[in-house]
Amino acid sequence: MAAAEKVFDFQDKFVFVAGGTSGINLGIAEAFAAAGAKLAVMSRSADKVQAAVKKLMDHGTEALGFSADVRDYDAVERALKNAHDRFGALDVLVSGAAGNFPAPVLGMSSNGFKAVVDIDLVGTFHVLRAGYAFLRRPGACVINISAPQASVPTPLQAHVCAAKAGVDMLTRVLALEWGGTGVRINSIVPGPIAGTEGMARLAPTPELEQAVAESVPAGRMGETTDVSSLALYLACPLAEYVNGAVIPVDGGWSLTGFGDLMNRLSAAYKPGPR
Ligand code: NAP
Ligand code: COA
Repeated sequence: MAAAEKVFDFQDKFVFVAGGTSGINLGIAEAFAAAGAKLAVMSRSADKVQAAVKKLMDHGTEALGFSADVRDYDAVERALKNAHDRFGALDVLVSGAAGNFPAPVLGMSSNGFKAVVDIDLVGTFHVLRAGYAFLRRPGACVINISAPQASVPTPLQAHVCAAKAGVDMLTRVLALEWGGTGVRINSIVPGPIAGTEGMARLAPTPELEQAVAESVPAGRMGETTDVSSLALYLACPLAEYVNGAVIPVDGGWSLTGFGDLMNRLSAAYKPGPR
């Protein structure tokens, strides 16, 4: 088996992270940058894109940023093509752009449900559909960022449950459709990750955050590095036989079914701004 420092050496590799300008996805981009890869990140806010590119370049690597909405297929394809023109074939493609707000089905409009499905699920379809042409074949690794809601029915999260379940099914279908071309695709399912926008929306008070942390069998929230470590593993040669897998990195959280925690989060629900 190769030495660990060789396995996690991404020098001369190119990694594209859709939604890679904050939180978990930026953590993934930074981990690859620290391991020597060239990076491209894409999200809507030009300011966030600029700040993320600076942060990535601080790791001593080359980085590009694109301001685009994953709901806009042509904009996604343009960003991927420009990145490919600059850095060549993609070794790793991460699809992690997502939106979330807590609301019961009767508290969300058709457009509210659609906004999340369009970003999380249709956006992932766009990134993968447009991205395939630019992947290194054979050899590329695709990673979708899913969520526990994909397999655990979760009150206030019908839109996210539906969208992320679809993301995991895309992972499985594409593992079959693309496996023969030497492209692997897997889903990472992060548990509750401290200090992220996603957690701030679901557990908006210190008490609720504490309740979430206590509900994890591992006894703590995750860190972005817990997730990026799995991403590095999936993209490295040790994982060359891992394909079509949906892999939690959640301290055992999704095994609990969330029971009483979800009752507490539901009781604390206040309708958000419309
Ligand atoms: P975050 O910081 O808000 O990250 C979301 C990223 O997606 C941002 O870079 C955002 O940038 C981008 N984005 C949002 N809408 C977009 C759009 N329409 N087009 C292009 N980019 C868009 O949230 P996070 O909590 O770290 O979550 C990151 C991922 O992890 C998500 O896929 C989420 O479902 C998953 N996850 C999170 C947790 C958690 O505990 N936080 C748990 C499980 C799964 P712009 O605003 O600039 O567009
Ligand atoms: N409760 C109920 N509905 C809500 C809501 C809430 N808290 N927040 C937004 N909505 C509804 C809006 O009212 C709108 O529906 P309407 O047109 O019928 O009024 C619909 O969702 C779309 O909202 P809008 O603000 O126009 O969408 P957007 O495309 O600008 O933003 C969101 C998408 C709503 C998902 C926004 O929260 C976002 O950009 N999130 C990205 C960051 C994030 O969520 N990070 C965590 C990732 S896990």
